[in-house]
Parts: sequence; C-alpha cells; structure tokens
Amino acid sequence: METAPLPLIDPFARPITYLRVSVTDRCDFRCTYCMAEHMQFLPKKELLTLEELDRLCTGFIGLGVRKLRVTGGEPLVRRGIMGFFTAVARHLETGALDELTLTTNGSQLARFADDLAALGMRRVNVSLDTLDATKFAEITRWGRLDPVLEGIRAAARAGMRVKINTVALKGFNEDELFALVDWCGAEGHDLTFIEVMPMGEMGEEQRLEQYWPLTDLRARLAERFTVTETGERSGGPARYVRLSETGQRIGFITPLSHNFCESCNRVRVTCTGELFMCLGQEDSADLRAPLRAHPDDDAPLVAAIRAAIARKPKGHDFDYSRTHVSGQMSRHMSHTGG
Ligand code: 5AD
Ligand code: SF4
Repeated sequence: METAPLPLIDPFARPITYLRVSVTDRCDFRCTYCMAEHMQFLPKKELLTLEELDRLCTGFIGLGVRKLRVTGGEPLVRRGIMGFFTAVARHLETGALDELTLTTNGSQLARFADDLAALGMRRVNVSLDTLDATKFAEITRWGRLDPVLEGIRAAARAGMRVKINTVALKGFNEDELFALVDWCGAEGHDLTFIEVMPMGEMGEEQRLEQYWPLTDLRARLAERFTVTETGERSGGPARYVRLSETGQRIGFITPLSHNFCESCNRVRVTCTGELFMCLGQEDSADLRAPLRAHPDDDAPLVAAIRAAIARKPKGHDFDYSRTHVSGQMSRHMSHTGG
C-alpha cells in the first residue's frame, strides 16, 4: 500500500492547504489601481499550458492542498479554460479537494456560470468597486457594468454563492458604502472590502491619494449599523463583522494596517509557474522548469515545491507609514493573482 506523502508544512508550522493559481496575466479590463492602460503581456510560450497547470495543481493537491482558487488577470478570458476547470474538478469528485473557486471580474460569467456550477464550483468572488455605470467605466477603463451584473445574476441563479470584493478607494466609492452594503444585502451576496495595496508602478502620490483605511470605512458603517466583530477567520487575511440590523457579514482585508501572516495557509503560483511563498516578498521558485524538463515525471516538481515551502517567510513588509510607502511590490496584482 502506498503511504500518503508528508503534507506541506512551512518553517513556522503553518500547513499549506490553499493554492491560488493565476492562469493568465491578461484581462479585458484595465482597472486603474491594477494595470497600466497599455500593458505588455507575456508571450504565449512563457505561460504554462493548460495541461501544465493541471499537473501543477494536481501536484499541490497530492501534497495536501484542499482549496484551489483560480485567478488572473481575468481567468475566464483564457482560451480553453473550461477544459482546465473540468480537469481539476476530478479532485472534487475524489474528495482530495474541498473547494474549487474563482476570482473574476464577472465580465464573462454569464457565459460560464452554469458550467462552473455543474462541475462543482460552489462559490465565486467577483470584483466590483461601484454600482454606478459611469464610475465603473472610469475605474475599469475598458469595462462595462451591465454584463458584470448579468454575470453575477447568472452565478447566483446557477446556485453559486457570490462574494463581492470591493477595493476601498478614497474619493471614488466612499459615497457608495451604504449602497453597496444594501445591494449585497438585498441580493444575498457576501461583501468584503479590500484596502488598496501598493502593487505595480503606480506613482506613490496616486497610491496614497487612493488609500482609504478600512478603519475609517468601518467607523462610517457604525454610524448607521451596530457593528460587532465576529472573531471568525477563514484562514486568510479577512476579518469579519456582523451588522446586527440586517444580519449581514462584512469582510475586511487590510494587508497594510494589520498583520495576518501568523495564520497564513496559502501560496500563489503565477501563470508562468513562479511560486510565491508570500504576497509581500520577492522570493519565488520556478516550477515551470521541472514541469517542462520532466513531462512524464512529477517527482522533480514535487521536490521543487517542497524546497520552496521550506523557505516560506514569516510575513510581509508592507507598511504605509504616514506619507511614505515602503515594502512596495514591483509586480502587478495581475501577475501574482489577487
Ligand atoms: N490593491 C487591492 N486590490 C487589488 N486588486 C487588484 N489590484 C489591487 C490593488 N492594488 C484586486 C481586485 C480584485 C482582485 C483580483 O485583486 O480588485 O478584487
Ligand atoms: Fe482585471 Fe481584476 Fe486587474 Fe481589474 S483588478 S484589471 S478586472 S485583473
């Protein structure tokens, strides 16, 4: 009988059970806090093929990863992506994987929602920063609100839970705080606010201008609602509060103002097969090389994964200290995957 391989445990005794994998750096939007308007995308040969992505995810699942989140760029713009979803969904059937999820901008969700639900996806995260069509066009540069709302409806209709991720942006969606909360409450969607992170080559001024601390957002929520801390954790950076009046649970992701690293259970792989052990650190491991050099043998891949996890750092160094941003990451979110 085969003995199960040792699970992935990092040097700080954190079991690695959650993999976020980016399947493309491309996106049909150009959100101002995420991308430049004219992005240079990677040549196709640099990307992992869908088969390589499957081998990679399967390798991690064999090492104890129980939750897989597919990210981008925008994952649903990658050609043939349903083939990949269908392939990895076999691990849901065997019980090796607890959850297969997706972070999407929603633009293509109307087309894919039924198929995703059918292969066992139970939840999707949709990024949505405003409910105003004009502001939506402004923040996404190339996006349109209506197809996204249609995609969200399709996902809900297909039986998936929808979590809305909203980047808190000073002077942009401050005035929509209650509109977003009310809309999510009425539609039955979960809602999480994300503090804007210093990613990419945004000017320092622009980042600080956009920075709307969630402590302030929360204080404003408390002007209308009774807000109580739930103490719940989902193994990730989100903290949750409950609004007594509506029963809604609201999440906060504050990568900059709070440290959540002690409970970190996750790693990220880019669409080129680079494994990042921490979102806020530059260290990475190349998993494409072992995948390509050994198309029929996963042992070198597994060895590379283990070696990388053995140097997962304790935490990140992001710090917004008054007027100055340190620990800024040069890579874009679309590269590492939200
Ligand atoms: N700060 C915070 N969130 C970001 N995202 C992209 N760029 C940033 C940033 N600089 C978010 C998107 C989406 C997820 C993919 O990552 O809004 O919710
Ligand atoms: Fe695309 Fe998401 Fe980045 Fe917007 S935030 S450009 S939708 S990847």
